[in-house]
Amino acid sequence: MCGIVGYIGNKPVYPILINGLKRLEYRGYDSAGVAILGGEPKIYKRKGKVSELDEFAQGQDVEGTIGMGHTRWATHGEPNDVNAHPHMSQNGHFVLIHNGIIENYARIKRYLEHKGYVFQSETDTEVLVNLIEYVYIRGQVSIEVAVRYALSKVVGAYGLVIASPLMPDTLVAARKGSPLVIGIGDGEYFIASDATPIVEHTKSVIYLNNDNVAIIRRGELSLRTIDNDRLEPEVQTLDLGIGDIDKGGYDHFMLKEIFEQPRSIQDTFRGRVSAKHDDIRLGGLHHVMPKLLAAKRFIIIGCGTSWHAGLLGEYLFEQYARVPVEVEYASEFRYRDPLIFADDIIIAISQSGETADTLAAIQLAKKAGATVLGITNVVGSSIPRETDAGVYTHAGPEIGVASTKAFTAQVTVLTMMALMLGRRNGSLSQKDYELNIQELVQVPDKIERILQHNDLFRDIAARYKDSQNFLYLGRGFFFPVALEGALKLKEISYIHAEGYPAAEMKHGPIALIDENMPVVVIASRDKSYEKIVSNIQEVKARKGIVVAVVTEGDTIIREMADHVMEVPHTEPAMAPLLAVVPLQLLSYHIAVMRGCNVDQPRNLAKSVTVE
Ligand code: AGP
Repeated sequence: MCGIVGYIGNKPVYPILINGLKRLEYRGYDSAGVAILGGEPKIYKRKGKVSELDEFAQGQDVEGTIGMGHTRWATHGEPNDVNAHPHMSQNGHFVLIHNGIIENYARIKRYLEHKGYVFQSETDTEVLVNLIEYVYIRGQVSIEVAVRYALSKVVGAYGLVIASPLMPDTLVAARKGSPLVIGIGDGEYFIASDATPIVEHTKSVIYLNNDNVAIIRRGELSLRTIDNDRLEPEVQTLDLGIGDIDKGGYDHFMLKEIFEQPRSIQDTFRGRVSAKHDDIRLGGLHHVMPKLLAAKRFIIIGCGTSWHAGLLGEYLFEQYARVPVEVEYASEFRYRDPLIFADDIIIAISQSGETADTLAAIQLAKKAGATVLGITNVVGSSIPRETDAGVYTHAGPEIGVASTKAFTAQVTVLTMMALMLGRRNGSLSQKDYELNIQELVQVPDKIERILQHNDLFRDIAARYKDSQNFLYLGRGFFFPVALEGALKLKEISYIHAEGYPAAEMKHGPIALIDENMPVVVIASRDKSYEKIVSNIQEVKARKGIVVAVVTEGDTIIREMADHVMEVPHTEPAMAPLLAVVPLQLLSYHIAVMRGCNVDQPRNLAKSVTVE
């Protein structure tokens, strides 16, 4: 959500901060600010984009080699200059930037007000910085002790960087719930909420764990727990290049990421499908395989697009592995007091690996003694560290807020898991197993073929860009694809769209259909083809506009539909991976034509680290 960047070293800090903030803008973007430290803090904050902050800072004093910057996604208090971070404590002793939510902030605020503190902003962050200052002054303790003590009193989540003019050559970083990465350069350190601002400077990083506090001085870092136990920092190498986080010639990250799917899907199955295409091996699940094979039930949890992938996972697991599966919104699951048994297998799906509700649901499942697996894209994020086993999707960084290549990578993993479990538990014959694997490895080439029709998808988008509502229909494996298509459209173009199981249309949504209503029907050939043809006729009988995703060479639907978007033929398990691509491009073009900010849609953040 919010983004953090910090630097301490010998280089001019301002360009490092501002470039880092630009890299982080995809996480949250309603306001931004920087503090140049090392003497009296110079703080510049602005509502709006990082470029507006940059404009404001031009001509101001930004000299210095130590500092911190923040992009804010509002939780407490509207986006404005005052609520933007960094926040300074009342007596000027501390400057703080913070991601996450301090849940007991109201109680602490009342207490501090009683002690004479007056607050300028509506944020929980200003409460925290003043709490630290209060502990420091009142307790007459060192800055480090004040920080650790104050943090031990807060309930909630934080990833933060704090500095003090009283200790001008030091930055303190702490994490509980919200991720923080420290990059190690040559006599310099970088701090960030994810690796994107760091990768252009260094590949050596330390991921902070929960309750870690890092004290960083020029050329020196020490790591402790919040209880002051010394820790040995574990330095890792970033598997990320600068090209991974650039637009690479595309107009938007989303378009780049859609076009990357042939490669990203290949990266997802690379090394996991045997050379002879007769087996699938998922190394991250090896040690839990006996448990997976003995499981009576799988529960898949996730949010948004990851939940849609999970729904598809249910269909795939039930069809190919013949095991019962439940799919849950993490946010519902965690608050519902659900029945979880020790022999359940929980699969948490998350692109970012940081979604607060998914993480909380994992904790709940672990408490109940279940085995928890993660399907995650961001290496080193919280979910893979919290789970018993898992599979990385290896889709590469996804910067566009609307998930595209991460979705297809998640579905690829779930497909591999379903096929592998089905073969291992005897539900799937070796012949069918191999047939499906052979189809899976052809998916990248088939997506390349779909991408060649991009101009056609743009033309269709041009006709319906001003529609007020869209309906997306699909049956079986294509129902989750319909949900995902509708979500893509609404999140980036702000057009109301609903996904429905095609047969359910008669039970309500059919009332919406008229000559202004585009109905996107996913109708590529599978066992429910005849039925979906009937659904198209029902829409046409009410003068609805039909945009159909069909299998190449389908002449029946071509005659009935207003527009067709063709995808190559494949086995049913792989068909969702193909069918979703035209829907991603349709949404993308509609959003661009409507002048929407495709990569950073209003109100949305890439990783939702608050509940
Ligand atoms: C997808 O386009 C959305 N932006 C959103 O629904 C996202 O999938 C959801 O917030 C879950 O995120 P995660 O996969 O990082 O956990």
